[in-house]
Formats: sequence, C-alpha cells, structure tokens
Amino acid sequence: MDSPGLFVLLCLVIFGQAAASSAEEITWSYTGLIGQSEWSEYFPDCGGTYQSPVDVITTQTRFDPSLTRVTPLGYSQHGNQPFTLYNNGHTAIIVMPEWMGLEGLPWFFTAVQLHLHWGNGGPNQRGSEHTMNGISADAELHVVHYNSELYPNMSAAMTQKDGLAVLGILIVTGEETNPAFNNILNYLSRIKHFGQKVFIPAFDIQSLLPEDLGRYYRYNGSLTTPPCYQSVIWTVFHERVQISKAQLLKLETILYSSKAEDPEKMLLQDNYRATQALNQRVIYTSFSAESGKELSSGEVTAIVIGVMCGCVGLAVIVRFIVKTIRFFKVLHRETVVVNRWFT
Ligand SMILES: *[C@@H]1O[C@H](CO)[C@@H](O)[C@H](O)[C@H]1NC(C)=O
Ligand SMILES: *[C@@H]1O[C@H](CO)[C@@H](O)[C@H](O)[C@H]1NC(C)=O
Repeated sequence: MDSPGLFVLLCLVIFGQAAASSAEEITWSYTGLIGQSEWSEYFPDCGGTYQSPVDVITTQTRFDPSLTRVTPLGYSQHGNQPFTLYNNGHTAIIVMPEWMGLEGLPWFFTAVQLHLHWGNGGPNQRGSEHTMNGISADAELHVVHYNSELYPNMSAAMTQKDGLAVLGILIVTGEETNPAFNNILNYLSRIKHFGQKVFIPAFDIQSLLPEDLGRYYRYNGSLTTPPCYQSVIWTVFHERVQISKAQLLKLETILYSSKAEDPEKMLLQDNYRATQALNQRVIYTSFSAESGKELSSGEVTAIVIGVMCGCVGLAVIVRFIVKTIRFFKVLHRETVVVNRWFT
C-alpha cells in the first residue's frame, strides 16, 4: 500500500476507535488532536450554553442580598488518615474525605476532590480558568462537591442540574511563600507522570482558601473539562490567594501529562479552558459594589484629611459670611444714622 493510503487507513482506525470507545476513554487535551475546540464533537455538553469558565465582567454582575457566606464543614478536621494525591494526566487531584462538605447553598454538598489549573511561563501569564474583566490570575484552585441531599453519589449527581457545587479560588503570585500550598507542591515530584499516585500527610484544607468567604460571584455553569456536564453551581471568591513565584514555578514545571513509560515526555502545562460565552446567564454577587469596596489605609487617610480640610474651609466661609452680615448691619445702621442727620 502507498503511504498516503496507509495514512488514511491509520486515521480511520484511530478515529474509529476513538468514536467507538466510551466518553471516559477518549484522550482529550487542551491543545492537540482533541483539543478544546474539538471537545464538543466528542462530548456534546461542551458545546452547550451554560459552560464554564466565564469572564466575570464586574459592571454586569447583579447583587443578590440573599447570597450568604458559604461555610466549609470539616475542612480543618483532617484526622490522621493520609490524603491521596494523583496525576490524572490533566491535573493534580487530592481526594477529599467524605465528612467534609459545604453549607450555605440551598442543599448540603459533600466534598469530593480538589485540583488546580495553571499556565506556563511564570507570573502575569495566563493560567486561571475564570477571568475578571478579561484579566487572568496565575492559577486557580477548584474544590468539588456533590449534592448529597438529592443524589446518592458523585456519578449520579454530576449529570444533574444543581448536582455539583464547585468553589473557585483565583491564585496570584507575590513575594511571600504560602505554606498551605506546600502541603501539595512538596509532593508533586512523586506524581510526575500520568497515573501516579501518592499518599500525603493530611492537612487543613481550609488554609488553601481565602479568608473572606462572604464575598463571591455565583452563577450556573459546568465542569471545565470533558464531559463538561452543565451541573455546577459556581462560587468564585472575590478575594484571591497568593503564592510565591517559586511556588508557581513548581506547579508549572514538575508534572507531565504523559505516562512514565511513554517515550515522549509531555509537560503538564496550560491546563486551563478558555472562557465561555455567558449567553443568557447572569452572574450574581454576594456583595454590592459600593458597600463591598474595602478602603486601603491610604484611602482612609485621604478621606480623613479631606473631611478635615472641608470642615476648616466651611468654618472659614461661615466666619466670612457672619462678618459680612455684621458689616452690612453696621453699615445699614450707620446709613440710617447718616440719613437721619440729613433729613
Ligand atoms: C451511584 O448511585 C447510582 C444510583 O443509585 C448507582 O446506580 C451507582 O451504582 C452508584 N455509583 C457508585 C460509584 O457508587
Ligand atoms: C441556577 O438555575 C436555577 C434553576 O434554573 C435557578 O433557580 C437559579 O436561580 C440559578 N442560579 C443562578 C445563580 O443563576
């Protein structure tokens, strides 16, 4: 057989196998043969109208006063059993104990796992999945939960509307090391390759979250990886967490999406999905833009000085007016007196 013919045959065989295998077995990736733009051909939900992530355009969000603080339950009660950390070829995942959960949504959600998304090339590049006014963070943490009030397990819940609740935490880089993230980063070298798994010491998962769990963005969306089920109630926190440049670099350069035995090593980088159209959706905020704005100490100083100057200014003006009135009164009296004299 000539080589073009062989190529076509090979393509048919590969394609046929891909099409024949179940959804879970299809080898998708972020770029390449079955990259983001091809996902929907194999996983129809990825082409849906309620997809994630999205760009949060803050001026187009709507304040919903009924959105109360979300409360992680048991995140800090990690116990003595080690956590399982593994490389699934797309990200690093920690399996969460089933006693951990989430309150503050219309149902109770039980924790399942947490994982990360990142870019490549260090700080101020792309890497997060959600963006704010078009701007990416350096990485993003997702904590996944299922609705255990309505569904018996994760697999049953993940296809249902309101089946999942995911916390999205934007990660930026700064000067300081974030010790909480070392509970994960220190063990990445033990799960370099796709399929590798390691037990790691249990740690306080809440320490990975921002302090302010009261201010967040809420919308209905999807899993950000195939099969992209549109089953996720998203909570993306307003406050970002900070890790150091060195920590980001570890995240970006240690893992491979290839298996240990694969001859060609593929770095696991840029595992974030592009933002998806919001379509008819509204992103709600748990805080109003005006009252939610926190003032920096500089702004507070400026306001205090401004108010003081204003008061002094007002006092000067009032004094001037009073004096002027007195002057005219005196003038008037004198005029009256003068008029008396001459009439
Ligand atoms: C999840 O629940 C469904 C429905 O009850 C059941 O059929 C299925 O076997 C369960 N799956 C797992 C992994 O436990
Ligand atoms: C999500 O969808 C449900 C059902 O359609 C709706 O009641 C709820 O208000 C939506 N939530 C958001 C944040 O849009």
